[in-house]
Amino acid sequence: PDPERDRLLQAYEWSAKFYHFLLKNTEHGTAAMEYLRSRNFSDKMIDQFQIGYAPDRWDTLQQFLEKRQFDLAEMERGGLLSVRGEGKGFIDRFRGRIMFPIASRTGKVIAFAGRILGDGQPKYLNSPDTKLFNKSRVLYNLHQSKASIRKTRQIVLLEGYGDVISAWESGVLNGVATMGTSLTENHVAMMKNLADEIVLSYDGDRAGQAAAIKAIPMLEEAGFRVKVAVLPSGLDPDEFVSRYGGDRFREQVIESAVSSVKFKLIYLKKNHILLEEDGKIAYVKEALQIIASLHSSTEREVYLREIASELELSYDSLKQDCNLLRASMQ
Ligand code: CTP
Ligand code: MN
Ligand code: MN
Ligand code: MN
Ligand code: MN
Repeated sequence: PDPERDRLLQAYEWSAKFYHFLLKNTEHGTAAMEYLRSRNFSDKMIDQFQIGYAPDRWDTLQQFLEKRQFDLAEMERGGLLSVRGEGKGFIDRFRGRIMFPIASRTGKVIAFAGRILGDGQPKYLNSPDTKLFNKSRVLYNLHQSKASIRKTRQIVLLEGYGDVISAWESGVLNGVATMGTSLTENHVAMMKNLADEIVLSYDGDRAGQAAAIKAIPMLEEAGFRVKVAVLPSGLDPDEFVSRYGGDRFREQVIESAVSSVKFKLIYLKKNHILLEEDGKIAYVKEALQIIASLHSSTEREVYLREIASELELSYDSLKQDCNLLRASMQ
């Protein structure tokens, strides 16, 4: 038993309710509400994800916690307050931010992410690592998606809060986020008990695509089947849903996710200029590396034929090169 831990859990639970109330029912929350509306967050999702608002003041949460007899130094260690710059005492850590509660896998609030309204730095301010929270060991929304994940044995892995929420509203109920792009071995182990297949649905920008390339071997080595959802360049899942709607997101992005091999080939192709011979040859060389390592000869044939027709090469010569490569790999 750890009484400090229990008190912190209580404080986080109440703070989440408080911020949610301030967003929905007070004038402090008006601008935040408008911002959320402009981004197509519905009332239903605001409730489902208990989104809140931390007013742009120094002592809103501090007073709330003080009135409820919490020890403020303890609350500072717990990541809800900060040490006042000058003099003594404490101030609110989160000010003027949209609040996304982060829950443990059992559904207890253990941290917050606070988003600035509009532009500004940092875009998200997170709780620090505490007794309750370690970013590399938590998947956002796992508590709510668990049921659907168990049923489908599949997890849709996204980057951020808005992506998970937009996916949920689109009917994708098995989405979780790593809250950034670095997938850890801890995350992988957490997912391993629940699912057999991962659909990577990272942002359609360079960083997101590079992160997907990095995540694939980690997930495959852990035994997952991996698919990748491909987004039009630049968009993230949340932006895609806002622009094209949830049905298209479900059908054309998630349900149309491609195999990890296909994704690697698409990714590779972007880095080569196929109109030039040098580019074409370099692309084929690297593509063959990927294809040659596939165990199934059917799979190899499928991808070799695709490349052959795409680049107007003969299947036979590709196959020959692929087999030579395989021989050298043994
Ligand atoms: N992130 C973070 N701190 C930052 C930037 C990002 O913790 N300064 C995490 C957040 O969990 C964020 C995720 O990384 O949701 C993905 O980052 P990014 O794509 O930049 O943000 P979005 O989720 O798209 O945020 P928004 O749509 O609100 O701009
Ligand atoms: Mn949305
Ligand atoms: Mn991103
Ligand atoms: Mn994004
Ligand atoms: Mn976004």
